[in-house]
Amino acid sequence: MSTLFAHGQNVDSAHTAHDAALAAGRVPVRTELPGLAPAWVIIGDEQARAALVDPRLGKDTTLVTATIRAQATAAGYPTPTWLSRMFNGLLFLDGPQHSEERRVLAGAFTARRVRELRPRIKDITARLLDNLHQAEESVVDLVQHVAGAVPLTVICELLGIPEPWRARFRELTLALMQDDPAINLPASDELGAFLVELVAGKRADADRGHQGADLTSALLDLDTERLVDILVLVFVAGHETTVNLIGNTMLALLRHPPLWRDAAQRPDLVAEMVEETLRWDAPVRTATHRVTLEPVVYGGVEIPAGELVMVSLEAANRDPDQWEDPTAFDPARHPRGHLAFGLGPHACLGASLGRAEAQIVMRQITARFPDATLAEPVMRLRRTVSSIMNGLTALPVALRPA
Ligand code: HEM
Repeated sequence: MSTLFAHGQNVDSAHTAHDAALAAGRVPVRTELPGLAPAWVIIGDEQARAALVDPRLGKDTTLVTATIRAQATAAGYPTPTWLSRMFNGLLFLDGPQHSEERRVLAGAFTARRVRELRPRIKDITARLLDNLHQAEESVVDLVQHVAGAVPLTVICELLGIPEPWRARFRELTLALMQDDPAINLPASDELGAFLVELVAGKRADADRGHQGADLTSALLDLDTERLVDILVLVFVAGHETTVNLIGNTMLALLRHPPLWRDAAQRPDLVAEMVEETLRWDAPVRTATHRVTLEPVVYGGVEIPAGELVMVSLEAANRDPDQWEDPTAFDPARHPRGHLAFGLGPHACLGASLGRAEAQIVMRQITARFPDATLAEPVMRLRRTVSSIMNGLTALPVALRPA
């Protein structure tokens, strides 16, 4: 079995594995989701586009969890008794139930709400960068202090999560993103318990006539279990992805030093730099779990019914059939049509928020620190442990304030 998601990777080894799978002919790869179960991974742009809208690939939570258990047992893995709350929300529903849940969330998560957040995102970023200006150390971990901090603060303000809980929420998210149920289940329980308490507090406020302006308060008509499932998804999908996008964009520009300076001098170029990062170093490496409802053929290979299927967004975005010189980072290519936000019924609901955060952070940080350089060789940097998320554990940078 292939090791497409081997742990302990340096920043480029996943790219290398997905690029090699493309070179091997865009056939699905049988691989392991470490600690969870074996799965098939769809490789190639055309194949990914087809799979993401294929109704023969189901996402219903009952089906997906039963399949993970069956596949884990058959392969001799410890069978998870249940799976994390991430498997309960919108991402793991099909058909009309999914459309209904998506309608509920989209109604609360409007374009206007996102537009209104922009000035707040600018303030949050400026304040964090002020702290860095004053920091004693010349080398700063930009994942911890910037990429991790801005999206966390934004999503917590959006959902109305109190300040003292936030650091713990970030730790729980990192645990939740790991495939291994022994790690992600306790995190899921703790996050769920926090959110039940949050909802109870917001209900009590609303009953006293103090309805909050946050998204949680806007959804209090839902019963608590359903609301907590939505909140887990929005919290995790809404910030960990963006942490990765910001961290990966910083790294991409620092690896190509003239680009970091270009961004400092030409903030109008930043949107294309973020977009090219979405293509070249996709923050979500593979779409979430799907299950074959019947046998399907991809790349000439038949995948039987009842198998777990992941779709490699990374391989789609680096497919030479779709992109010229795909392994080169080149914002000037105007990278439209990448699959970093997915496609079809489950396409990302927060793309404009994620893009806005990354653009704001990149404009401000390059302007304040135009001479920043990597403080470690690229080969020493590491990816977070996850088969779905593609982020950095740390990004040590010498800032050299202007
Ligand atoms: C820049 C960062 C982001 C990236 C790369 C990203 C990527 C994705 C992808 C690939 C999917 C589809 C997964 C699948 O088909 O299995 C998805 C779904 C989703 N994303 Fe994002 N996302 C980002 C930011 C956000 C933000 C900021 C939010 C909300 C605040 C959000 C909320 C969601 C939700 C709710 C879904 C599920 C949609 C559904 O199942 O119908 N995302 N995202």
